[in-house]
Amino acid sequence: MSFETLLLDVQDGVATITFNRPDKRNAMNPRLHEEMTAALEQLRYDPAARVVVITGAGPAFCAGMDLKEFFTALKSKPAEYDRITRLAVEWRGRTLRYFPKPTVAMINGFCFGGAFSIVEGCDLAIAAEEATFGLSEINFKLFPGGSVSKSLANLLRPRDALWYGMLGRPFDGKKAVEIGFINEAVPLTKLRDETMAVARELAGKDPFALKATKDGYRHSLEMPWDSAMNYSSAKEMELVLQQNDAWRTEGIGDFLKGKYRPGFESHDQAHKVERRTSRARHGG
Ligand code: ACO
Repeated sequence: MSFETLLLDVQDGVATITFNRPDKRNAMNPRLHEEMTAALEQLRYDPAARVVVITGAGPAFCAGMDLKEFFTALKSKPAEYDRITRLAVEWRGRTLRYFPKPTVAMINGFCFGGAFSIVEGCDLAIAAEEATFGLSEINFKLFPGGSVSKSLANLLRPRDALWYGMLGRPFDGKKAVEIGFINEAVPLTKLRDETMAVARELAGKDPFALKATKDGYRHSLEMPWDSAMNYSSAKEMELVLQQNDAWRTEGIGDFLKGKYRPGFESHDQAHKVERRTSRARHGG
């Protein structure tokens, strides 16, 4: 499928979605919401995509909702405004959050307003130190609407959420790490390499175990203790079925045979090295 507002590329197990409206600082217009919905649906079932990275073309990651094509142009079309709002909230707030594969936000530049929900919906987030973040809504007399207030409540400490939400002051990548909004900030020149290294590392781990890790974390947040324990037991049995008990037989089994140390490396990584060494020994 080809897109007007996105670029999509899948390589070495990593799918990269690039918002591609650089002239409009990758602001999310209605078309972009429709296309993100379709792209995520496509990648959900693409076996070549083990990890999804989201980034932006040009100087912006994403300048938030399109203030013209969404807020202004749809003002007199309430049904269409509602349809696009639902799409916008759904792909960031639910589809990304519960996506069955790991997701990484690669924040290359401006990241404003509604883009906070993309960052929060992704599992991991790495930014350029030079990136500019901001809850700019207050500066044009709005508040962090749609799913943004919920994203702030999910991820930020109360003082930071209200500080940036009420003052609308911009901040950089290093500050975004300091307040726990993202994982890492690196110089822009290193952003792609660093993010791809993380994405490839994720692509090398067991996909079922990764999904269980996400599910366990995200659903437990919403549950009381007893339900969370019950859910966790059920997930463990689901994993046994999905992997044919590989976490016990191979994962733990090979550790007990002294073949690798899970504290330092993953099972598949250790086996790749072992296979390479054995091929070299046998001239393969
Ligand atoms: N919606 C629609 N168009 C936008 C948006 C946006 N959110 N952001 C930028 N653009 C457009 C501008 O209108 C301009 O279009 P034009 O060339 O047709 O006039 C183009 O992108 C470039 O914008 P500039 O302001 O010239 O670019 P600059 O690099 O100087 O500044 C910045 C970028 C800081 C992102 C600035 O455009 C800005 O403040 N944008 C608004 C950001 C914002 O408040 N987002 C929150 C939206 S609310 C929400 O998401 C819930």
